[in-house]
Amino acid sequence: MSDDYRAGPDHSGPAFFADPVVRAEQVRKTFDGHEVLRGISLSVTRGELVSIIGPSGCGKSTFLRCLNFLEIPDGGAVAIADVAITRAGGRWTRADEDAAHRLRAHVGMVFQSFNLFPHRTVLDNVMLAPMRVKRLPAETARAEALALLDKVGLSAIAARYPDTLSGGQQQRAAIARALAMRPDVMLYDEPTSALDPELAEEVLSVMRALDEDGMTQIVVTHDMRFARAASDRVVFMEGGEIVEIDDPDILYVSPQDVRTRRFLRSVL
Ligand SMILES: Nc1ncnc2c1ncn2[C@@H]1O[C@H](COP(=O)(O)OP(=O)(O)OP(=O)(O)O)[C@@H](O)[C@H]1O
Ligand SMILES: [Mg+2]
Repeated sequence: MSDDYRAGPDHSGPAFFADPVVRAEQVRKTFDGHEVLRGISLSVTRGELVSIIGPSGCGKSTFLRCLNFLEIPDGGAVAIADVAITRAGGRWTRADEDAAHRLRAHVGMVFQSFNLFPHRTVLDNVMLAPMRVKRLPAETARAEALALLDKVGLSAIAARYPDTLSGGQQQRAAIARALAMRPDVMLYDEPTSALDPELAEEVLSVMRALDEDGMTQIVVTHDMRFARAASDRVVFMEGGEIVEIDDPDILYVSPQDVRTRRFLRSVL
């Protein structure tokens, strides 16, 4: 954890060290002279499910990718679990990449496209990383993978290949694969938007079950119903900024900002 991040005036005191699993401070990102993230700050507590909503192009995916350094922020700081990385615009060094590597070990990421290894069975997809990266013995990895596949409702099809699965099944396998690395937080970028409603529901109910187990989850979604019903807090972004963060029942019923009101009117 970098010292200047600890020393910042807003981060002092026990609150910073206690519960937040994810902490972003003033994250900035510019693409081709266009400032896509204009200083995003967000703290997520262990066990929370936080949804991020907002119009297309407002920077939701970029922010999510900055949280695990799939995109390198130009400025700001991100801390996940016990790893913090501060960016002050300078060069991305080897030491930074090492820190990002350590940070990513705490993060499971699930994308809209399921990204399973096509030439591996579902079971192998879930077992491989724990064996290769964490050096788990095959039998341990297999037992854990089967337990996870059971949790996401796929134990009966563990031996099948991804292209024989429905989209909903593939996405649940992708979730099991991410969980196999025992992340502290799961990040989802529109996990259900490639799916028919019925298959989407299978995926959403897995996420609700994980929430009940106490998993910390951040979900970028266009599914306004899910965001309202399942989230502890909803983040509304527009134009590279967080406009408003609130309890979903408050945000949906009486948003404070005119931009939130306008967006919700357009999508609900
Ligand atoms: N690698 C990149 N290079 C250049 N511009 C990018 C890159 N990635 C994203 N952008 C731009 O940054 C802005 C934010 O994109 P982002 O994908 O984060 O939006 P989003 O809120 O996830 O939108 P959507 O809801 O459509 O997925 C867009 O204008 C996009 O074109
Ligand atoms: Mg996106």
